[in-house]
Amino acid sequence: MADKFFEFYSPVKIIAGDGALEHLAFELLARGVSRPLIVTDAGVRAVGLVEPPTGALESGGVTVAAVFDAVPVDSSTATVAAVAACYRANECDCIIAIGGGSVIDSAKTANILATEGGDDVRAHAGAYTLKRRLAPLFVIPTTSGTGSEVTSVAVVRDEKIGTKLPFVSQFLMPDVAVLDARMTLALPAGLTAATAMDAMTHSIEAFTCLAKNPLSDAYATAAISKISQNLLRAVTTPKDQHARLELAVAATMAGVAFSNSMVGLVHSLGHSVGALAHLPHGLCMNVLLPYVLEFNLPVRAELIGDLLRPLAGDDVFAATPREQRAAAAISRIRTLRDHLHRDAGLPRTLQETGKVRRDQLSQIAAMALDDGSLLLNPRTVNHAEALSVLERAWG
Ligand SMILES: [Fe+2]
Repeated sequence: MADKFFEFYSPVKIIAGDGALEHLAFELLARGVSRPLIVTDAGVRAVGLVEPPTGALESGGVTVAAVFDAVPVDSSTATVAAVAACYRANECDCIIAIGGGSVIDSAKTANILATEGGDDVRAHAGAYTLKRRLAPLFVIPTTSGTGSEVTSVAVVRDEKIGTKLPFVSQFLMPDVAVLDARMTLALPAGLTAATAMDAMTHSIEAFTCLAKNPLSDAYATAAISKISQNLLRAVTTPKDQHARLELAVAATMAGVAFSNSMVGLVHSLGHSVGALAHLPHGLCMNVLLPYVLEFNLPVRAELIGDLLRPLAGDDVFAATPREQRAAAAISRIRTLRDHLHRDAGLPRTLQETGKVRRDQLSQIAAMALDDGSLLLNPRTVNHAEALSVLERAWG
């Protein structure tokens, strides 16, 4: 059998663990920059998460030049232009993003305008339009889920036409990601659970979809293991620094995995549900994950069975007969979802979300068929099949 071609690229420097924030000043100065613009949102600033990085930078001899704290939940091209204007007005020379996916993607795309000039980022949308390095970008995630701190992708809403505008370039990869438990300790249980299940889905889809490769497999399985061992602890004892750091590292590892091996049907359906019902992405992932795995089971039984080891540990894996492992892995995910429902209020079905109508399922299925994530799902999907997955996920 011919060996399958693959590529793997992961250039982001990861700084993690106790005192990680205190290393950030060195990373700026080592890159010859010292006037950072902090990009964040009002919520992150209100809970006091701008101060720890700012204080750590000052101790290291770096003064923040400006703070832009008005990134909305669903960031847009207008926000990106405003961030770039703030960067120029304060003569900044690098960007530090402090926040979740919307903040990080806004910082990535504002960095295009900061470097290339202009105020219409739409001119740079699409794949591989950038031809040179951007200003240094440092990312401090305050959720543990999107993995955007290690991906070459950003998505913002086109203010003019209201649709999502994707950007893909190796130059969008941040220079440094800082993972410090202090930055996620205040994350509420519901958000902790939903974002972690996004990371879980990134790992599981990277491991089971068509672009899997041995390197992303290693990241994916390690991330699944960390999430399985630490998510419930982080939800029930939110100040557990070890559990928080493990989730942050897992989300980043899952980001590395899926940025190299892509995602599949959970994301195709989830993007459509999220867009139509205005539901958070991680919540949609949590709802859809087991139903898509059951759909993919006929063509992926062995790989889904392999997931039992990182999901349940070596002993359970060894004690489970080979032909029962796939079902046991899916059952394990269902049990995890039951606990997240109990402890964090996370819905397990579309019906439990209270935001999706059953008569919308056909439209969601149709939208999902146009989603790029479908291309690498291991089993081809038509409208009737997508609809039947949604019907099962209805509850
Ligand atoms: Fe995702």
